[in-house]
Amino acid sequence: MNNIEKSFINYAHRGASSYAPENTMLAFYTGIYMGANGIETDVQITRDGVLVLFHDDNMLRLTGVDGKISDYTLEELKKFTFKKNSLCDKIATLEDFLKQFSFRDITLAIEIKQAGIETRVAEMIRKYSAEKKTVITSFMLDSIRKTRECAPELRTGFLTGPVSDALIEELKQMGVTELCPNAEEITSESVIKWHACGFNVRAWGVKNEEHMKKVYDAGADGMTVNFPDKLAKYINERSINCNSVEQKA
Ligand code: G3P
Ligand code: CA
Repeated sequence: MNNIEKSFINYAHRGASSYAPENTMLAFYTGIYMGANGIETDVQITRDGVLVLFHDDNMLRLTGVDGKISDYTLEELKKFTFKKNSLCDKIATLEDFLKQFSFRDITLAIEIKQAGIETRVAEMIRKYSAEKKTVITSFMLDSIRKTRECAPELRTGFLTGPVSDALIEELKQMGVTELCPNAEEITSESVIKWHACGFNVRAWGVKNEEHMKKVYDAGADGMTVNFPDKLAKYINERSINCNSVEQKA
């Protein structure tokens, strides 16, 4: 096994969301069962102040109801059922998630989707002693900045499209350790450059298996995928190939 295979994180994106309803406990367990060694999820806050796992700004796509998570209490949200491939589950809280996954040997990428919840998220991570296995991510640079201020012990990753030199400098100054570009930005050259700047490189937006292989082969440190089974299989195949080459040498 080479260094990439040892440290590479196969994140089940919103859980194994190709197979099970996204951001539910069912999707997270499916991801682990399929061989993911990381889980990615999205956090928002309910009207009654509970941190819950939900991706969209509007609930329409997943519930058929036009409204925001913050319009509802947790008890109201529990009435909705999320379905995928004849599987169904209910909304999960960040606390449910940490109770089940904070003691496992996996990495947790927790994405802040709503500004203003940074301190609450950090407190919950501390409550379950999950600081070392967690990376807080966001597309909102201000949320990453607030997380660095209120929880400097937590690793942070900035989700972005293109990566400019100015952005690299700003992230370095903030103490951000993970760069999370769109998978389209990942090439061997860009990964080498960002590693040299001191960042861990984790891709998002992987569209299909070919894309997944391209990102992996470019030397990224991790990626979120909706199909962690396919990535686990590819990593395993690569590892077998590497070992047989080593034995022949
Ligand atoms: O891997 C991060 C990824 O989740 C960002 O995109 O829209 O799925 O939150 P999104
Ligand atoms: Ca996300």
